[in-house]
Parts: sequence; structure tokens; C-alpha cells
Amino acid sequence: MNLHVTINNDPKDFPCQPTDTLLDILRREGYSGVKVGCSNGDCGICAVLLNGRTVNSCVVLAAHCQNKTIETIEGLSAKDGTLHPLQKAFLDEGGAQCGFCTPGLILSAKELLDANPTPTDADVREALSGVICRCTGYVKPIAAVLTAAAEMRSAKGSTAV
Ligand code: FES
Ligand code: FES
Repeated sequence: MNLHVTINNDPKDFPCQPTDTLLDILRREGYSGVKVGCSNGDCGICAVLLNGRTVNSCVVLAAHCQNKTIETIEGLSAKDGTLHPLQKAFLDEGGAQCGFCTPGLILSAKELLDANPTPTDADVREALSGVICRCTGYVKPIAAVLTAAAEMRSAKGSTAV
């Protein structure tokens, strides 16, 4: 079958087998920011946004994504390379160590901040809970998400009329 999707705002068409997962397709097509962990739906390392909601791409059939919108970590920075506030905060605050889980953490956080610009510490913990991080203990990633949320609120306030 032919799969038509929009990835990071770009319309794409790919050949797709009925057994292909979304993870298979994304990795095959060069979206290497989508990491491969357990391949079993347990670790969240492969998380992407599907129509704005976090999914574990290893357990989503690609065919299920027909005509849907996908966001990967490659799509977060601006075209001129300016980092998304979440990426900047993770960098500035040491929210990434080995970095293997970082795309999944950042995309999970993006889903949260898109829906809730004023999250509590508990909200952030809950949002990141689907991604297993072996390195950070979550303290710095949570701090980074709260910093990014504050910066995004501040930026929005400064552009409001
Ligand atoms: S690789 Fe998909 S949840 Fe672990
Ligand atoms: S930074 Fe290494 S697994 Fe999270």
C-alpha cells in the first residue's frame, strides 16, 4: 500500500507493508531521532506525536497512520536551526545525559505544554512517566520542562497585543 502522512509539516508518501510499524517507516525514511528500545511498547524510547498525542511508534502499525500528522524530534527546531524552548532547556539544564531517551522525553513534554502551558511538577512527572530514562533520575528533565514552560509563557506574553 501507499502511505500518505505529514511528518514535521511536510507531506510524505511511502511504500508500506501491512506489517510495518510506524517506527519501521520512520527509521527507514531517515528519521533517526526516533530511537529503538524494547520494540515492545514498554520503554517509550520510540515515542513520537501522532495527531498531537504521544504514541510508542514501535506498537503502532504504519497503516493506522494513513493521512495523519506525525511529529518527530527533527521537526522541533525552526528551519533556521533555532532550538525549541524544550530543546534549549534540556541542553542548558543538563536534562540529557546519554540522550537515548531525550527525543521521547521532549516530545512527551511537548504534548503536555501544547495542552497545558502552566504544568505543575506533578503534571510534568506524569507526562514523562511513559519514557524510561536510565541516566538522569528525571530531576533535571523535569526542571527543564518547567523552565521551558515558563519561557514559552513569557515569550507568548511578550508577543500578545
Ligand atoms: S522501543 Fe517502543 S516502547 Fe520501547
Ligand atoms: S539520558 Fe540516558 S536514558 Fe535518559
